[in-house]
Amino acid sequence: MDRIRIRGGHRLSGEIPISGAKNAALKLMAASILTAEPLILANVPRLADVRAMAELLMSFGVAIQMNLSPHLGEGDTMRLEAKEITSAFASYDMVRKMRASFQVLGPLLARRGEAKVSLPGGCAIGARPVELHLSALQQMGARVDLVDGYVVATAPGGLKGAEIVFPFVSVGATETAMMAASLAKGVTRIVNAAREPEIADLGRCLIAMGAKISGLGSSEIVVEGVERLHGASHRVMPDRIEAGTYAIATAIAGGEVELVGATHETIASLLSLLAKSGADVTDTPRGLKVAMNGSRPRPSDVTTAPYPGFPTDLQAQIMALMTVAEGTSVIREKIFENRFMHVPELARMGADVRIDGDTATVRGVTKLKGAPVMATDLRASVSLVLAGLAAEGETMVGRVYHLDRGFDRLEEKLSRVGADISRVPE
Ligand code: EPZ
Repeated sequence: MDRIRIRGGHRLSGEIPISGAKNAALKLMAASILTAEPLILANVPRLADVRAMAELLMSFGVAIQMNLSPHLGEGDTMRLEAKEITSAFASYDMVRKMRASFQVLGPLLARRGEAKVSLPGGCAIGARPVELHLSALQQMGARVDLVDGYVVATAPGGLKGAEIVFPFVSVGATETAMMAASLAKGVTRIVNAAREPEIADLGRCLIAMGAKISGLGSSEIVVEGVERLHGASHRVMPDRIEAGTYAIATAIAGGEVELVGATHETIASLLSLLAKSGADVTDTPRGLKVAMNGSRPRPSDVTTAPYPGFPTDLQAQIMALMTVAEGTSVIREKIFENRFMHVPELARMGADVRIDGDTATVRGVTKLKGAPVMATDLRASVSLVLAGLAAEGETMVGRVYHLDRGFDRLEEKLSRVGADISRVPE
């Protein structure tokens, strides 16, 4: 399997185009199930997870055409047409490999009145149960049985509107409820909804398809069901986690990079922290610019939280930065119970991190040292790449497929701004 080799110590300079958001694109693709007419998505990122979702949708009978852009900054275009849903079955193999596959459950049930989708099981970052998704669908009138590890859901008479009060915030469950409610009879009120920008992006696409949704971006979303949805065109929002990752890359390596297409407000919690750590962050007409003069970052305490709090998907990356800070930082992970898998690998590069439950205490060191490392999820993997940019000598990051799942042409983007990074076939 390929590895990524980084030789540290190079300042970054230039511009990086930000791709479409993985976690928006995957749900937008699933939304194509809700209509028999074509859904055209622009700015689709080139990722293994996008290809996996396309394969799953094709197994349901969705016809998919891709138009690959020759330019890194443009994003691909995807046309999805679910004229007829010929199967409503998502296997264990599929959902285990990519949890976002579970998001087809709501749309399949709403369009076809039945679905059989594997329970995802645990994953590298935690147990990640799905009871909130299931109870939302049950409250909308679905019958849900768990049979041999599968969710078997039916709604022969269709789904009906309901008042769904989530006991805690879940991105995926909010999306399941919103998609299913779009085709339900009557009004659905989703209380304590997640406010992540990817949910608003999905909502805007559903509205373009004829859905009646209000309250996007707030913690109460109201959906008035319609009889059918129609085709639409939608541009996938820029990936805030990718933008945040390259902002941190610039801070850790030093230099000045413009993140073209990045939107400040979607990563405001990170940018204010980077500014406190000593980076200059400025908005530009095309995105934003991050500059760091090469001095060590100041330490900062971070606690992950649902949006607009600090994203769990940037926790590993900010930890990489704090490993070289001038002082001690405390990082608390409040969303997933097992999301410190990068810590032992960072330690192999000389980082000083102690974990106690959900809290990591990071004592900054003057220099990291390159080492062979690997990680078990994509954000953890990219944190090792960031550490490699700052480390002395060579870092080899194994299990590159994690990076390919969620970072669009990472080596190309980083080498364009002067990083010494390449893919080494094994
Ligand atoms: C989404 O996962 C993202 N994935 C994750 O990104 C992201 O880390 C997460 O939201 C939080 O922002 C996609 O969008 C594909 P949740 P999701 O439901 O929807 C618990 C990445 O690296 N929970 O908001 O699965 C759950 O276990 C990935 O791109 C229940 O207990 O996250 C977690 O502790 C990783 N029961 C918390 O809630 C449920 O029924 C938040 O999960 C649902 C969730």
